[in-house]
Amino acid sequence: MKTAVFPGSFDPVTIGHMDLIKRAAVIADRLIIGVLVNSSKTPLCSVDERVDMLKKLTDNINNVEVMSFDGLLVDFVDKTGAQMVIRGIRSSADFEYELPLAQANYKLNCSADTVFLATLPEYSYISSSAVKELIRYKGDIKDIVPDVVYQFLNARFYL
Ligand code: PNS
Repeated sequence: MKTAVFPGSFDPVTIGHMDLIKRAAVIADRLIIGVLVNSSKTPLCSVDERVDMLKKLTDNINNVEVMSFDGLLVDFVDKTGAQMVIRGIRSSADFEYELPLAQANYKLNCSADTVFLATLPEYSYISSSAVKELIRYKGDIKDIVPDVVYQFLNARFYL
């Protein structure tokens, strides 16, 4: 049985994340979404809120679990017994950033390999940071976050 971890900050979850989660759930027998605790000093949503939203959003995918983790990704991967770490690549800039991380993680724990999934072109401009920026300047985020996330952010930030 192949277990994969899909780690991230997910602050907030975007439709790009959701596409990757659905595709990763086909590759892995068991997919664990790992939400990093304390990734930013000024998060939009608390870790518990992110975990709750991801649970709602993956309710209909029966091999997905959602957990939070603190500290090194390799330690979380060890704890879950996963053989794969999944990361999405939107651009060459992502690859530049992800490659040394994947190499460092493999050096620290060679029982798990990083697998890169190419983001669909129509999602390649979408990021959690873009959502944060749009919220700040009252830009429209309806099309780039799942509805559950939009409702949550709308209630908090009066979009
Ligand atoms: O969604 P993000 O912010 O791009 O996710 C980044 C994440 C969580 C994958 C990365 O920051 C991470 O793995 N953090 C945990 C600490 C760690 O293991 N760092 C790598 C040291 S080589």
